Amino acid sequence: MKVAVIGTGYVGLSTALSLAYVGHEVVGVDLDETKVARLNEGKPPFHEPHAEAMLALVQDRLSFTTRYEEAIPQAEVVFLAVGTPSLPDGSPDLSQVREAARAIGRHLGEGFTVVVNKSTVPVGSGNYVEALVRRAFQEAHGGEPDGRLAVASNPEFLREGQALYDSLYPDRIVVGAEDKRALEVLRELYEPILEQSFAPPPFLPRPERMGAVPFVTTDLASAELIKYGANAFLALKISFINELARLAEKVGADIREVARGIGLDSRIGPRFLQAGLGWGGSCFPKDTAALLAMGREYGLNLPITEAARAVNFGQRTLLVEKLLAELKTLKGRTIALLGLAFKPHTDDLRESPALALAELLLKRGAFVRAHDPVALPRAKREVGLPLEYAEDPRALLRGVDAVVLATDWPEYRTWPWGELKGLLRTPLVVDGRNFLDGKALAAQGYRYVGMGVPALGILEGVRV
Ligand code: UDX
Repeated sequence: MKVAVIGTGYVGLSTALSLAYVGHEVVGVDLDETKVARLNEGKPPFHEPHAEAMLALVQDRLSFTTRYEEAIPQAEVVFLAVGTPSLPDGSPDLSQVREAARAIGRHLGEGFTVVVNKSTVPVGSGNYVEALVRRAFQEAHGGEPDGRLAVASNPEFLREGQALYDSLYPDRIVVGAEDKRALEVLRELYEPILEQSFAPPPFLPRPERMGAVPFVTTDLASAELIKYGANAFLALKISFINELARLAEKVGADIREVARGIGLDSRIGPRFLQAGLGWGGSCFPKDTAALLAMGREYGLNLPITEAARAVNFGQRTLLVEKLLAELKTLKGRTIALLGLAFKPHTDDLRESPALALAELLLKRGAFVRAHDPVALPRAKREVGLPLEYAEDPRALLRGVDAVVLATDWPEYRTWPWGELKGLLRTPLVVDGRNFLDGKALAAQGYRYVGMGVPALGILEGVRV
C-alpha cells in the first residue's frame, strides 16, 4: 500500500521503517530540511538502536520529503505522527497536528484516504482532525471530500530504545474508527505484522513463542483513551513501587526482593516494578499531565494519576536527601552523574530525571560533572544548565565527593570500580536505579546507597 507518515520523530520514523520493511511504499514528511536531508542519506536524526540498519534495508521503499504534495495525494493511508508537547497547563499543544491536518486537506488525493492519528492527542481529537481536514479541503477545492476520507486513531505503544522491536513485534495493535472501511484498510496495512508473516531482519529476531498479534478494533474515543490509560497505568505502577520503596527503607526490607515477590503474581507481572529515580521521557510526564487536564475539562479529579506524579517527582528530592544525609552539605561538593538520558539506549533528554536531579544539586550549591555513553553531544547542545561534562570514567570521577547513577546504562556495571576508587575524594555511590552491584562495591571499599534497599559499607572522614 502507499503510505505517508507526517513527522519523523521516534513514532513517525519507527512507523515508516516498520511499514516499509513489511513491504509498503512509504514517504516520510517533515518540515525540517536538515532532518529530511540526513534521513535521505540513511542517517537517523537521533540515537535509536537498529534505525540506521533498517534505513539501509528499506531504502527502495522509503523516502523523505519536506513537501506534502509529494506524499499525500497518492497515499491510501496518512499517519499523523507529529509532536504534541505539553502547554503550561498540562494539556498538549496541538499546533503541529492542526497544521498537518490542514495540509492533508489541501492535498487529499482522488482515492479513499484514511487519516490515522498516531500522535498522542486528547480524546475527541479524531473528530477535530476530521473537521480540520474537511475544512481545508473545502477551502482548497470547494465541495466535500465525501466518501474519500475517513479518520482513525491508532495509538502507539513503542518504547524509545526498543522502538523498532516494538513496532515489528507489538503486544497488540489498537485501531479506533467510526468508518468500517477505515478499519479494513488498516487491517490490510498491518496484516504482515498481525500475522507475523514477514521474515525478521537479521538484527531483530522474532521473539520465541510469538503468535499472531491481537488487532483491537474500537471506536475513536476508546482508542484515544487506551493510549492514555496504558501510559498512566505503567507510570503509576512505577510510582507505586517507589512509594513502597520508601517504606521498605524504613522497615529494613529490600524493595528488589519485594518487587520480585509481588511481580510473580501473574495478575501483577514483574515489569515496570523497578524502583529508583522514577520516570521521565517524552510520554509518561506529558501523558499523565494531559490526562489530568482532560479530567479538569470535565470537572473530574483523577487522584491516583495525581499521586503517581507527586511520588514520581518526589523521588528526585529523596535522592538529594540521601546525598545530604551522607555528605552533610552539598555546597561546594562535586557530584559525578552517571547518565543524562531519561533511560538507557536513547539520547533523548526530554524530562530526564537525571537533569531534574542535576538542577536540584546545582541549586544546593554543588558542582555537577556528567557522563553519558551517547547523550553527551546532545546534552552539550540542548541543556541550559551549567554542567561539566566528562567523556570517560577517569575524567568523571577525579576528585568527586559522590557518584550518583541516574540512568541504568549497562556499561556502568562493568566499569572497573575497584581501580577507579582511588580517584574519588569520597568513595560514595548513590545508585538511583538500584542497578550497580552494591555488595561488590562495598567489598571494594565504597559506601553504597540505593533506593529502598539496605545501604552497605561505611563512609569515614566526611568533612563539612
Ligand atoms: C513509554 C511506554 O512504555 C510506551 O509504551 C509508550 O509508547 C511511550 O512511553 P518510553 O517513554 O520510551 O515508553 O520508556 P519506558 O521504557 O516506558 O520508560 C519510561 C521511564 O520509566 C524511564 O525514565 C524509565 O527509566 C522509567 N522506569 C521504567 C522506571 O523507573 N522503572 C521501571 O520499572 C520501568
